[in-house]
Amino acid sequence: MSFKQIAVIGAGTMGNGIAHVFAQSGFTVKLIDVNGAQLEKALQTIGKNLDRQVSKGALSEGQKSIALANITTHTDLAVGVQNADLVVEAATENTDLKLKIFRSLDEAAPANTILATNTSSISITKIAAATKRPNKVIGMHFMNPVPVMKLVEIINGYATDKAVTDAIVAMSTQLGKVPCVVNDYPGFIANRILMPMINEAIYSLYEGVAGVEAIDTVMKLGMAHPMGPLQLADFIGLDVCLSILNVLHDGFGNPKYAPCPLLVNMVTAGYLGVKSGEGFYQHTAGSKDLVVSERFR
Ligand code: CAA
Repeated sequence: MSFKQIAVIGAGTMGNGIAHVFAQSGFTVKLIDVNGAQLEKALQTIGKNLDRQVSKGALSEGQKSIALANITTHTDLAVGVQNADLVVEAATENTDLKLKIFRSLDEAAPANTILATNTSSISITKIAAATKRPNKVIGMHFMNPVPVMKLVEIINGYATDKAVTDAIVAMSTQLGKVPCVVNDYPGFIANRILMPMINEAIYSLYEGVAGVEAIDTVMKLGMAHPMGPLQLADFIGLDVCLSILNVLHDGFGNPKYAPCPLLVNMVTAGYLGVKSGEGFYQHTAGSKDLVVSERFR
């Protein structure tokens, strides 16, 4: 299996990061989204993030121009995937939407195209079962921010062919990433371990064991995490954290995964972290200052 042309579905934060790393590694990228304005915004973000690499000396101006020239945008999924060797789906984390997209991909993409999903928690086996090629469906879970984070968590669905896994492992290495292969059970590995840690941090706050700053500082300075768990929850999105905890709770039926009531309340009230402007911290566009949300001071 050789890969030249990659289609990326979804031009949000993960989709633009994934398009960025493929384009930077010399692949032709078709970035696809139903929303034309979102595609424009994604190209601007990729440009800015490439500029950041140029200013750090990690990339030359010439390499930046080549990377940008490798990307074209499409609003029509069938046109965007018609010559793709690999499709990486990074649409909104919604099971029905993903199943619908994979049914369309199965019809529109060539028969030997590998269909990967960047889902953080939806069953790969379930997504694969929506297609007539479950042996060619696999999880490729990139981490945010994609151009920076080295890991690609590769998830084998129940029916994924070993040759497909091997090809995706090799391709991830070509992207300069470090692939780790895991099997398809709720939360895979990344979120099975990360989300209970975040939930426990929220429980510690809810029970008054410590404040936001203390909890995050303990984990940053005591365990060398780049962000504390509450700051990371804001960065990921509290709605995303809640949805993944629900997947773990439903999937294993074990009460240890039950989301903290404080997390449920915050999501219900619309306090989602960076994306809504407030979570455990207050977030102001353009500022890197860590300001604890007033209600937790
Ligand atoms: N594109 C390109 N480069 C970027 C970038 C982007 N989008 N964002 C940051 N960078 C680069 C910066 O240029 C900088 O480069 P140098 O080290 O060469 O100077 C470097 O990354 C660090 O950036 P900053 O100095 O701006 O900021 P920082 O030191 O505070 O680091 C961070 C920011 C990389 C996000 C760091 O805080 C971090 O690693 N946080 C944890 C991130 C994490 O855990 N991600 C996983 C989330 S879970 C997930 O994604 C999956 C899921 O299923 C929920």
